[in-house]
Amino acid sequence: MAAKATFSANRRSSRSDAFLVLVLFLLSIPEGHSLEGFCAVGGDSDCGLSSHKILIKGGTVVNAHHKVVADVYIEDGVIVSVRSNIRVADDVKVIDATGKYVMPGGIDPHTHLEMEFMGTVTIDDFFTGQAAALAGGTTMHIDFVIPINGNLSAGFESYMNKAKKSAMDYGFHMAITKWDDRVSKEMEVMVNENGINSFKFFMAYKGSLMISDELLLEGLKKCKSLGAIAMVHAENGDAVAEGQKRMIELGITGPEGHALSRPPVLEGEATARAIRLANFVNTPLYVVHVMSVDAMEEIAKARKAGQRVIGEPVVSGLILDDSWLWHTDFTTASKYVMSPPIRKSGHDKALQAALSTGVLQLVGTDHCTFNSTQKAFGSEDFRKIPNGVNGIEERMHLVWNRMVESGQMSVTDFVRVTSTECAKIFNIYPQKGAILEGSDADIIILNPNASFKVATASHHSRTDTNVYEGMTGKGKVEVTISQGRVVWEDGKLKVTPGSGRYIRMPPFGYRFDGIEKADAAYLASLNAPVRRTKATA
Ligand code: URP
Ligand code: ZN
Ligand code: ZN
Repeated sequence: MAAKATFSANRRSSRSDAFLVLVLFLLSIPEGHSLEGFCAVGGDSDCGLSSHKILIKGGTVVNAHHKVVADVYIEDGVIVSVRSNIRVADDVKVIDATGKYVMPGGIDPHTHLEMEFMGTVTIDDFFTGQAAALAGGTTMHIDFVIPINGNLSAGFESYMNKAKKSAMDYGFHMAITKWDDRVSKEMEVMVNENGINSFKFFMAYKGSLMISDELLLEGLKKCKSLGAIAMVHAENGDAVAEGQKRMIELGITGPEGHALSRPPVLEGEATARAIRLANFVNTPLYVVHVMSVDAMEEIAKARKAGQRVIGEPVVSGLILDDSWLWHTDFTTASKYVMSPPIRKSGHDKALQAALSTGVLQLVGTDHCTFNSTQKAFGSEDFRKIPNGVNGIEERMHLVWNRMVESGQMSVTDFVRVTSTECAKIFNIYPQKGAILEGSDADIIILNPNASFKVATASHHSRTDTNVYEGMTGKGKVEVTISQGRVVWEDGKLKVTPGSGRYIRMPPFGYRFDGIEKADAAYLASLNAPVRRTKATA
């Protein structure tokens, strides 16, 4: 019932608000900033604020559970019909998808747009990051609100402001960085009033975002009571600080010191610790950016034992290896610095296998982009290189090429790991993550016979580097439809700042089903308190 109410509330987008934001945004564009490829005031009528009727003809419609050749008819941002031989009037835009895949738009569960971090701010904001996403076939993302001095409401307000320039749908997770009664009460407000159903706990970044085991325990208990998913950045932050000190003492100050100071064992340890604490509390746990075999094997073990653990690899961990960090050019090496680090060759292949066999469930990007000037803050000391890599534009292509094109994954599983599973975990399915009658018209058309090439010169992110530079592959997103409007076609973007909607995510998603039964079984198993006769003196 609650989910249904949210479903329609999410639809109440305000076109007039969107127009106001568009005008304000265009007035605020700094001189010299090019808007080429984006909508401008007075542009063509396709530019976004009007609704559309679209028929996608003859493609293979792929959902996570099924694929079938069918037509898809869209009106006013919603999928109206999915069946063969749909006939329409002349005013309907018809897209021929014969020989192509028609799939739900990607949902990226892990991004950081316009985030203040390590003394600077990520270079992609809610407009440029989302423009990049749409050009790559992603139609929704979930970003992380960072509280302001531990204040959740202030953080939420700040992120809602940043997101006013959004061009596509988005939702929020929230980080928890300190603990007191106020934080605990504010978590209730976030879930019950603000549409947030997940909280992230950083077990690393000592001195800034890192939390203690005591806080993690409190947080896990609170998440459970609210029906919110607890997420962890799993690295042992104390040991990382020790590893960093060791590298500096050894005179290792370059980007390779980043990888050497936080080896896989520290990720495995923290992952195991978080999993055991979540088991102790009996609440679902979502491990973000699983980068190593060590962490993945802890997740596999826990899942095999029946624990509700979700593992999210990110594209960089699936595709890259750490050899780049040893590159002699600082600008090149530093762009690969992220945490946990990109690992040695072999971890990537193991993570791919875990994804294809269901040990890991969905793919994010951790899109957290800094340009080469920002990365250069750490040219004398790797600890000062802002952590993060790009990926929001590249995720769909790279996962398709590496997993489907290579034969490791079916087309339906591709939809599951890039879209559907995210919608299910965060309780917005089937509004998102499906091509079904009544679902939002967030759709991509992928041509399996066309190829893609990643290049800084042509990407849509604001950054001046790309960790996937030069990569090529098969499978190209030729059309992206967001909120029922064609926003990417013929290599051109038609996106409108202010047209994106905040998607509220209700608590108690499917990972909470049966938790109370497991709690009851636990209590029954205690066989305590024991009734005793009084001790005789
Ligand atoms: O290096 C990373 N991952 N930067 C973003 C912050 C985080 O840990 O997710
Ligand atoms: Zn993290
Ligand atoms: Zn992240």
